[in-house]
Amino acid sequence: MNARIALLPGDGIGPEVIASAAAVLEAVASRFGHSFTLDSYLVGGVALRDGGAALPDATREACLEADAVLLGAVGDPEFDQAPRERRPETALLQLRQDLGVFANLRPAKVWPGMEDGSSLRPELIKGLDLLIIRELTGGLYYGEPRGRTDDGLEAFNTMRYSRPEIERIARVAFESARGRSGQVTSVDKANVLDVSRFWREVVIDVAADYPDVTLEHQLVDSCALLLISDPKRFDVLLAGNLFGDILSDEAGAVVGSLGLLPSASVGGRGGLFEPVHGSAPDIAGQDRANPAAAIASAAMLLRHALKLGDEASAIEQAIGDTLTAGMRTADLGGDPPASCSEMTEAILSRLASAPGQTGPQERTT
Ligand code: NAD
Ligand code: IPM
Ligand code: MN
Repeated sequence: MNARIALLPGDGIGPEVIASAAAVLEAVASRFGHSFTLDSYLVGGVALRDGGAALPDATREACLEADAVLLGAVGDPEFDQAPRERRPETALLQLRQDLGVFANLRPAKVWPGMEDGSSLRPELIKGLDLLIIRELTGGLYYGEPRGRTDDGLEAFNTMRYSRPEIERIARVAFESARGRSGQVTSVDKANVLDVSRFWREVVIDVAADYPDVTLEHQLVDSCALLLISDPKRFDVLLAGNLFGDILSDEAGAVVGSLGLLPSASVGGRGGLFEPVHGSAPDIAGQDRANPAAAIASAAMLLRHALKLGDEASAIEQAIGDTLTAGMRTADLGGDPPASCSEMTEAILSRLASAPGQTGPQERTT
């Protein structure tokens, strides 16, 4: 297969982990006989520093034309006080909207042998395999009106969802549950918010088309509690944009580190694939980042955008074997820690030789 993949390394540790993921994609291409064109484009703080917009036109066009996009992270303390249109994060929100990728799949799994890495007791998380489905192009992030009053004394955002927006993301959750344990937990704040009562109403309507899937509802505050007291009670968690963002970082602590969580944003053109973590300015440029989330995001890219399931599984197996063998970056408590490059090399060498399967593979539905 020939495929064009746009790489957006971005800020902080983004370039380090994208270099790792690109090396893995090159290795897959040569092992499986594919040809991937990997071109890099500016986004976020690096694009602003270069004198352009946070999402330059050339970057947007390349992403719209590519078969898939792999992004590292955006976010730079230098622009933390900048107005909205000059913020690195705004570029990412624009790109998600331009690509129309409304469904963000965030799997969170505990690899065998990694149970001691969680902040929870091993018995609570052994075998945990969650899929958070986060609505990505609506809700509080995009709702109008938003801004400040003319007198500067108030600021406001609007949490807003239309019936079609809720229906389409709910369908993604129910379809995904069918290939898993057949259970969806929809997250809302229906005891307080009108938008959440509407969300719940629409999810219940959609559930009628999936009688084989069990639907439960959790208020977001109690869901946050259950995620750290009894995470294995969940399988597919369906959430709006804001709640999904918060719960997925919490899931990072549950499985051991944010540095392990990949994501796929689909439903529109191509697909946007990115680790759940951010630019981690505290460790940027030190070769200390865990590349697993970015490499696993590349695996999701192969599976979801290019339909290369075997290749994706080979990458996931190489990551799982490397972790199971005991290699640990600093975020996983390595003592002494493996560097980002050492972890990448170890995954590449397993990829070149890995036989059989050990870790839980991401399910295809
Ligand atoms: P963060 O995810 O960047 O970091 C949180 C903590 O996790 C830090 O201690 C960091 O060192 C650690 N961490 C994250 N990824 C890691 C990895 N791969 N390996 C090892 N440790 C890792 O969150 P933050 O500090 O709140 O945000 C920093 C910047 O990133 C902000 O500007 C924020 O807006 C941005 N951000 C971007 C994205 C994205 O591009 N998708 C996601 C989240 C945050
Ligand atoms: C994420 C990030 C982004 C979000 C930011 C950087 C815009 O936190 O992808 O989880 O809130 O969606
Ligand atoms: Mn986030």
